[in-house]
Amino acid sequence: VTTIQFRQVVVAPGVIDLGVGQPDSTVFPLELFQRSSRVALDSVEQAEAEFFQYGAEYGDGHHRLALAEFLTGAYGVSVDPELLFSTNGNSQAIDMVCGVFTKPGDTIIVEEPTYFLARGIFADRHLNIVGVPMDGHGLDVDALAETFVRLRNEGTPARLVYTIPAFHNPTGVTLSEPRRQRLVELADEFDFLVVADEVYHLLGDLPKPMSAYVDSGRVLSLGTFSKILSPGLRLGWIHASPPLLKQLAGTGVVSSAGGFNPLVSALVTPLLAPEALGAHIAFLRQEYGRRIALVDVALRESMLDRVKWEVPHGGYFFWLTLPQHVDAGKVRLVAKNNGVDFRQGALFSSDAGLKNHIRLSFAYYRDDELIEGVRRLGHVLRLST
Ligand SMILES: Cc1ncc(COP(=O)(O)O)c(C=O)c1O
Repeated sequence: VTTIQFRQVVVAPGVIDLGVGQPDSTVFPLELFQRSSRVALDSVEQAEAEFFQYGAEYGDGHHRLALAEFLTGAYGVSVDPELLFSTNGNSQAIDMVCGVFTKPGDTIIVEEPTYFLARGIFADRHLNIVGVPMDGHGLDVDALAETFVRLRNEGTPARLVYTIPAFHNPTGVTLSEPRRQRLVELADEFDFLVVADEVYHLLGDLPKPMSAYVDSGRVLSLGTFSKILSPGLRLGWIHASPPLLKQLAGTGVVSSAGGFNPLVSALVTPLLAPEALGAHIAFLRQEYGRRIALVDVALRESMLDRVKWEVPHGGYFFWLTLPQHVDAGKVRLVAKNNGVDFRQGALFSSDAGLKNHIRLSFAYYRDDELIEGVRRLGHVLRLST
């Protein structure tokens, strides 16, 4: 018997875990990747195979050039290749940004709710987290301004704001354009950095990402291939202004090991053509759009009237609001015994609030299991509310 695990998430047999926020294996573009890897590996001579070496500090140059072109088209923002820094994906980017721009004991601001696994990264960096509420238009920027005034008066000014501006995890909400502008103005006024985790931006039809604001010198836009290609690549990027990138590229880890992931960057580069990655993203949007409609119908059929949700326009998640008195953490215990699971709202809260919420992902399962999972959840909620 071996205890070796072959993937991060292992769901118990018989359970449909609608909490898993990762792609199902059927959407990975294996053939596309096989082709692109072959192009990358076949097109070089031994002497030119630089991707086997320690890489350039900002990331592989060919990759950054192709990525800038891809993002300029996909984002509708002119992205300068010089302003891109390759990462191992957004989790590592968040960690690195915290390491460079904060020190242990600093206060940072997150949305209430926020991505629960980012909390572990902030805890690793010994940061104090303060949550600022959101509504249907994203982060409440007036509440943010008030929080900054309060923190300044208390002598603990926040160094950065971590936001998920598009198809937020867990709420699915997108930050409105006026609020994006206001956020950047506030960053100037209160001297903080905006760390924009744009992980889901391309999984829906949206106006410009926070990348559009990097010239302010206040914004780091974090992008990743995890949701548009594959999390196993561990490849992403930071788009930011030169002084910020210079600090990232000057870290000890980069000086010692070179830029991140040169070989994988080289394998992905041929894929960055619009007819390859662009077409794959179009497929993902269509596929997830279909699942959103499917889950919405299943919810309407299975949920009690007192359960509310907004239909998301992209990303991975539905955010359900249960009656005020219901503790979703307790419901979850019943759910697991009834073959279904999810993530309870309190996981995403900075002050143990949001107990009456549930996050459901439509990314990990295919149609039949999604429908069956929602049906089981409806049954469980009837039992426990
Ligand atoms: C908001 C958010 N940030 C980051 C990540 C992880 O990104 P990566 O795979 O690039 O580390 C996820 C994945 O679920 C996410 O939802």
